[in-house]
Amino acid sequence: MARILITSALPYINGIKHLGNLVGSQLPADLYARYMRARGHEVMFICATDEHGTPAEIAAAKAGQPVAEYCAEMHNVQAELARGFGLSFDHFGRSSSPRNHALTQHFAERLGDAGLIEPVSEKQVYSHGDGRFLPDRYIEGTCPNCGYERARGDQCENCTKQLTPLELIDPRSAISGATDLEVRETRHLHLRQSKLRDTLDDWIDSQQGWPVLTTSIAKKWLHDGDGLQDRGITRDLDWGVPVQFEGAPWQGMEGKVFYVWFDAPIEYIAATAEWADSEGLDEAAWRRWWRTDEGADDVRYVQFMGKDNVPFHTLSFPATLIGSGEPWKMVDYIKSFNYLNYDGGQFSTSLGRGVFMDQALDILPGDYWRWWLLSHAPENSDAEFTWENFQASVNKDLADVLGNLVSRVTKFCRSKFGEVVPEGGANGPREAQLVENLATRLRAYERHMEAMEVRKSAAELRALWVLGNEYLQEAAPWSTFKTDPDQAAAQIRLSLNLIRLYAVVSQPFIPAASARIMADLGCEDWSWPKDIATSLQVLAPGHAFTVPEVLFAKISDERRAEWEEQFAGGR
Ligand code: 2FM
Ligand code: ZN
Repeated sequence: MARILITSALPYINGIKHLGNLVGSQLPADLYARYMRARGHEVMFICATDEHGTPAEIAAAKAGQPVAEYCAEMHNVQAELARGFGLSFDHFGRSSSPRNHALTQHFAERLGDAGLIEPVSEKQVYSHGDGRFLPDRYIEGTCPNCGYERARGDQCENCTKQLTPLELIDPRSAISGATDLEVRETRHLHLRQSKLRDTLDDWIDSQQGWPVLTTSIAKKWLHDGDGLQDRGITRDLDWGVPVQFEGAPWQGMEGKVFYVWFDAPIEYIAATAEWADSEGLDEAAWRRWWRTDEGADDVRYVQFMGKDNVPFHTLSFPATLIGSGEPWKMVDYIKSFNYLNYDGGQFSTSLGRGVFMDQALDILPGDYWRWWLLSHAPENSDAEFTWENFQASVNKDLADVLGNLVSRVTKFCRSKFGEVVPEGGANGPREAQLVENLATRLRAYERHMEAMEVRKSAAELRALWVLGNEYLQEAAPWSTFKTDPDQAAAQIRLSLNLIRLYAVVSQPFIPAASARIMADLGCEDWSWPKDIATSLQVLAPGHAFTVPEVLFAKISDERRAEWEEQFAGGR
């Protein structure tokens, strides 16, 4: 049994996330966490809301609420939606927690003592129109790297380049659109990432089998142009982790907070401490996941994120951990994703274009979305959501293949043998062949799941379901029953057990449907099918069950058309 630490990139607090955000981090992280738990490993699955910085301030101002109140409310909204999608976090924390304040200041102090943080007098953009300094995200302009016209002051979302506001071409205020901007002197702290360049380079080289998407982005920022740049890690904002704290190795930083990207990844650790607090556990309980001198050396740590987050996780956060000089657990594998687009364009919050998490759950249960999103995860390139594809996937995979099998087998059993697993005779060569085919497919499924090949895993799972359908079609117990009821009973007994097996192995993808199947089968044995033949005997003759309600309802053409129009945007 291994110990596996899994973190999903922290969703910003500023509003409800769309399906593209969900499939880029939280959902595949959940898939992996569920799978690893199902295989008997000890899992710690951590996520949190990313609450600091300008996005939070802007959103709170728009909502006309104090930022702390806004964040508290929005955290609960996001937690509720996470439950709706079956995201099985061990803890869903908040980056504004006292734990994260303390830990962020701890890291800053260590980095300061190590000479890796220095106060620098720097030029910042002051907006006369807004009467304030405009940090990072409050400024928009054209990306100097790729020419994208709506790049933000901290990063270009088009080419992922990390930026400073001063690099933007034709900058303007994101609050007011004001262009009467002036550059003024102010003091800020800089993280001397450049001093750690070789260390980071070596560390990345020593990682085995990282996805190309991950390493290529990291290498690009290590070596392109002037190489890894030092970064300002403080901002002129009220909301955030104060820079001037007791014992801080610098003076005169009152009224400043740490940059959101400095404290956000530290929240992975802090949220694990929040978890221990909420469980009434001691410090050792969370430290054994994070401190290699306190047990974390045998932890495997996997991070999930969209590609725009990769620079921060391969460079900035590791710089914080390594630079502290303390034995913190470093990530072992970074699984990164491309973007999901919406029907020929992008998801857009301002235009109301695309499906957001709350709307998705309003129209269909979480499993329908989980299945489509995961089986179309943007792994090797960007992917695209279309209603036609979604409808086809739900109707064919979920309703026709899996749902139909469950329904046919249980209903036929009820009509001929009652709602109990029938006794019947022995299984023959057809069943032996099925067992062999299932074993081959299942081992492939396991390999892909272990390798976090999300789409391939989904394809194997579907292939497993198809095997059951083909078996049922060929064995045709409804015909067998007329001449040999004993054999039909044996076929149905096996099929009922096959349904249980499907519930168990499908659980990481469609947890709610699996739980319903298991409840209707009256079975609590979730043990993974290590040996197929044995696991097809778990439900013994005489075991009672109830026929499940329709597992997955088909999507009609009319509803599809309605939704297509409803989510097209233009609000
Ligand atoms: O890009 C984002 O949505 C960020 N909120 C991700 C933060 S991940 C982490 F480092 F906290
Ligand atoms: Zn760019």
